[in-house]
Amino acid sequence: MNKLSQNEQKLLVAKTAVDTLYERGLIFSGMKIGLGTGSTAMPAVKRLAELIDEGKLKDIKAVATSFQTTLTCEELKIPVFSLSSSEIGGKLDLAIDGADEISAENHLIKGGGAAHLKEKLVEYNAAKLVIIADESKVVEDLGTVFPLPVEVIPEARLSVIQDLELLGAKCKIREGVKKAGPVVTDSGNLIIDCLWDKVDGKSPVNPMLLEDEINKITGVVENGFFTKKLPLVFIGKSDGTVEER
Ligand code: 5RP
Repeated sequence: MNKLSQNEQKLLVAKTAVDTLYERGLIFSGMKIGLGTGSTAMPAVKRLAELIDEGKLKDIKAVATSFQTTLTCEELKIPVFSLSSSEIGGKLDLAIDGADEISAENHLIKGGGAAHLKEKLVEYNAAKLVIIADESKVVEDLGTVFPLPVEVIPEARLSVIQDLELLGAKCKIREGVKKAGPVVTDSGNLIIDCLWDKVDGKSPVNPMLLEDEINKITGVVENGFFTKKLPLVFIGKSDGTVEER
């Protein structure tokens, strides 16, 4: 059998995860659901819309984690609410999203799409978090290959970089693609991408400690380590299978 491409793995895992969650009663009519951002999350949103169109799901209330997700929901006619609206009331039944790196402990780096602020807000307030990813996202340890995104208020960019360097990070302000200058997030902030050098062949990063340490720096809005809510993870593989862990 031909190996599935990365994009095919994303489509496979998105559909399999949504169908499995529906069969298990974790996606159900009347639920409040958080919807992630990126090229794996979007096919999951589309599968959810298909289940709505097929009449299998009714009265779904979604909270979108980015402008991208809001636009997709509008296109697919999935009703979107603010997390703090009276319809949602600040808490969700479940959230589903992609990831950039997934460690052996199911700790994550997210924010490749610069959406980790709202993603964390939505996903830490969901009763259950489901992460869907292709197999390239599974790593031994975090922080040395895919950069950790740190969202900062623009005025604080240089002071925050100096404090991140004291934590051992090499920092770069994220540049726009087909847009001159830096990426500006959905909340009007900048992204500093941080990478650590391996020490003795291993990452020096302790994501559980650094998630808190980085957020203590004045001017940091949120970082892309997700260690405080352990997700159920679905991995789409090149051999056409989906692993759950
Ligand atoms: C966006 C994210 C995405 O979930 C992450 O970047 C994975 O993206 P993709 O599914 O496109 O590979 O955290 O901020």
